[in-house]
Amino acid sequence: MILVTGGAGFIGSNFVLDWLAQSDEEIINLDILSYAGNRENLATLDKDSRHIFVQGDIGDTVLLTHLLKQHKPRALINFAAESHVDRSIHGPEDFIQTNIVGTFHLLEAVKTYWYNLEGEAKQAFRFLHVSTDEVYGSLVKDEPAFTENHRYEPNSPYSASKAASDHLVRAYHHTYGLPVLTTNCSNNYGPYHFPEKLIPLMIVNALAGKPLPVYGDGQQIRDWLYVKDHCSAIRRVLEAGQLGEVYNIGGWNEKANIDIVHTVCNLLDERSARVDGKSYKEQITYVTDRPGHDRRYAIDASKIERELGWKPSETFDTGIKKTVQWYLENQHWVANVQSGAYREWVEKNYIDRVI
Ligand code: NAD
Ligand code: TYD
Repeated sequence: MILVTGGAGFIGSNFVLDWLAQSDEEIINLDILSYAGNRENLATLDKDSRHIFVQGDIGDTVLLTHLLKQHKPRALINFAAESHVDRSIHGPEDFIQTNIVGTFHLLEAVKTYWYNLEGEAKQAFRFLHVSTDEVYGSLVKDEPAFTENHRYEPNSPYSASKAASDHLVRAYHHTYGLPVLTTNCSNNYGPYHFPEKLIPLMIVNALAGKPLPVYGDGQQIRDWLYVKDHCSAIRRVLEAGQLGEVYNIGGWNEKANIDIVHTVCNLLDERSARVDGKSYKEQITYVTDRPGHDRRYAIDASKIERELGWKPSETFDTGIKKTVQWYLENQHWVANVQSGAYREWVEKNYIDRVI
């Protein structure tokens, strides 16, 4: 069996669902159920004995040690993190605690477990750390995309905390020989994406008749990958990645934020038109920029394509259509995640922004 952490979040829950759709290998899913973790994402697995959910913290060494001893997983995939840049600007401490201190405790527990394995089990064990392209900092227009050799230049508390976790993972390989793999992926989108991030926020606000808040001039560029393609890349790295190596994951889909918002509006105009017949673009509102806002991210995914033969299945066009459709068909999920805490966050992040 394998152990995943953060498997009730956006990418983790897609990973768990895809894993069990493709194999019968059991998954233990350790998740603290922060505001971003949601058991409803995994509701289809409620009666599935291949999925063992445990609510807990990656920083809880006692719990981790117990889980590892009891279940003896052949691999651990670490998705657990605080993941939203804007939240890291308002309150960086949780990011330091989970992404840095939590990853450290997780590595310690896994190191002890792995030391005590023997023979084939020790040879086969893998610790796969899921990270982000944001650790590489910001690119200017026409600068080559990030390769795995790009220097680390994180600019937000979020990316700095992820960079620190990547360094710890690297150090545990070089110092203790821990069999690690690291992936650095570009921006994901797709089902179960919490509506504090750009694409789901725009869909949800548009349908609710609310403003579509575009930071700054809207010309910042992100490189978008459909979440299920990220999951297939992680499976491939787990299967065939070289120990200690880093793999950048991306779909060669650079888009300016404003173009993303226009695409979302066009799809909603076609599929769920406003009653007044006007376009959802009428709701676009330019608002004060994010402090320290990175201008451009772009992933060079040549290494994973060349060495592991991985390629994404979706284009941006097919992926965004599936995503918009998913949100239209899952209004119940959307309503349930918009709790009081969610509304407080929206208030905090957007109240002073309107120009
Ligand atoms: P998310 O915020 O949707 O989910 C994070 C999950 O981790 C939640 O279920 C949360 O409850 C859990 N968690 C948080 N703190 C924990 C702790 N201390 N112990 C156990 N569980 C804890 O994030 P996501 O978008 O699914 O991202 C998953 C991983 O992928 C993160 O490491 C993130 O840095 C990385 N990543 C995300 C993107 C993206 O576009 N979303 C892109 C590249 C890499
Ligand atoms: P986000 O989804 O938060 O991902 P990240 O900052 O990790 O790339 O934001 C994607 C881009 O969209 C980023 O350039 C910030 C911008 N953005 C807005 O313009 N308005 C918003 O309300 C949000 C949440 C993001």
